[in-house]
Amino acid sequence: MASVRLVKVRKIFHTPRGEVTAVDDVNLEVRDGEFLVLLGPSGCGKTTTLRMIAGLETPTSGEIYIGDRLVNDLHPKDRDVAMVFQNYALYPHMRVRDIIAFPLKIRKYPQEEIERRVREVAEMLKIEHLLDRRPRELSGGEQQRVALGRAIVRRPKVFLMDEPLSNLDAKLRVVMRAELKKLQKNLGVTTIYVTHDQVEAMTMADRIAVMNKGRIVQLGTPKELFTRPANTFVAGFIGSPPMNMIECSLDEGKNLLDCGALKYRLDPDAGLTLRSKGVTEVILGIRPQHVLIERGKRPDAVAQAPIYVVEPMGTETIVNFKLGETMIRAVIPADIDVEAGEVWNIVFPRDRVYLFDKKSGELVA
Ligand SMILES: Nc1ncnc2c1ncn2[C@@H]1O[C@H](COP(=O)(O)OP(=O)(O)OP(=O)(O)O)[C@@H](O)[C@H]1O
Ligand SMILES: [Mg+2]
Repeated sequence: MASVRLVKVRKIFHTPRGEVTAVDDVNLEVRDGEFLVLLGPSGCGKTTTLRMIAGLETPTSGEIYIGDRLVNDLHPKDRDVAMVFQNYALYPHMRVRDIIAFPLKIRKYPQEEIERRVREVAEMLKIEHLLDRRPRELSGGEQQRVALGRAIVRRPKVFLMDEPLSNLDAKLRVVMRAELKKLQKNLGVTTIYVTHDQVEAMTMADRIAVMNKGRIVQLGTPKELFTRPANTFVAGFIGSPPMNMIECSLDEGKNLLDCGALKYRLDPDAGLTLRSKGVTEVILGIRPQHVLIERGKRPDAVAQAPIYVVEPMGTETIVNFKLGETMIRAVIPADIDVEAGEVWNIVFPRDRVYLFDKKSGELVA
């Protein structure tokens, strides 16, 4: 087992249409035994980062360490990492038993040890009954488990996984998510897992590194990212439905945020913080789960508005309000009866409100 450390790692691709900076001075330390998720939108540099750690791509600059060893010049096969790809290719003509055994065979492990390890892995992944089948005789989830088996059979220092569950249907993904997390904890192997699915990241990770445009924009535990997003990007990326983000201007005289059809009274501290940082253009953020709606008059309501659309979800209901150009979403318990057109008071509890600098996107208060 080992930690993984990236120091100012950069990757520039040269294309006929110019340079693409896929990874932009990334610093990252993945702890020994940790399950770290790289999370970000398509094209933000997740796969490129993973491929550089695996040795399948050479960094333009920067250093990559596995344990204490600088691996920049080390061949992929000498890095002792195993990678599971989104499109895991299983050799179609081979039986499951031989697919899993393959990494050991090419490394010339003794036959008894190969058999023992394949048995162990098959047991762990609950595929003992499939060992004599070929890939086309397996379901997607079973194929996925075989691909995992092939990766773990060797007990590498590090697992690198690139969206390994994305080809599975939604239900199976939920099952495999939990199984994979359990497996990683049992094996204790340092794991770097790439996904663009924030639910996958939140549910599986010890820590998440959120990437945007080649950079890590925040690193923290799922809870830290959820409760204290460092910027509007993380705030909007994590949580479902996404955080409400409302553009406002600071009315200094009244200690008020003027957000068009909606007014938000600042507490004195928040007002001071904004002024001391010279921030007058603000993005007000609040999660839909934290927006309150009330029928009776509320002096602290940010607005009174008719419901635009109601979306029942079963255990809860998403209520949409349209205020000018701004859509505000509230998630409420399903047993509260609401109907489109009804007028409700919208309340933002102060301790649930995030204030971001509109210019930089950074969290201010
Ligand atoms: N071989 C390459 N040549 C040129 N540009 C590349 C190459 N590989 C990746 N890129 C570019 O680098 C950027 C990062 O790509 P990367 O594959 O790392 O993104 P990703 O975060 O894994 O995205 P996705 O979620 O879509 O898989 C993108 O702009 C991509 O177009
Ligand atoms: Mg990718």
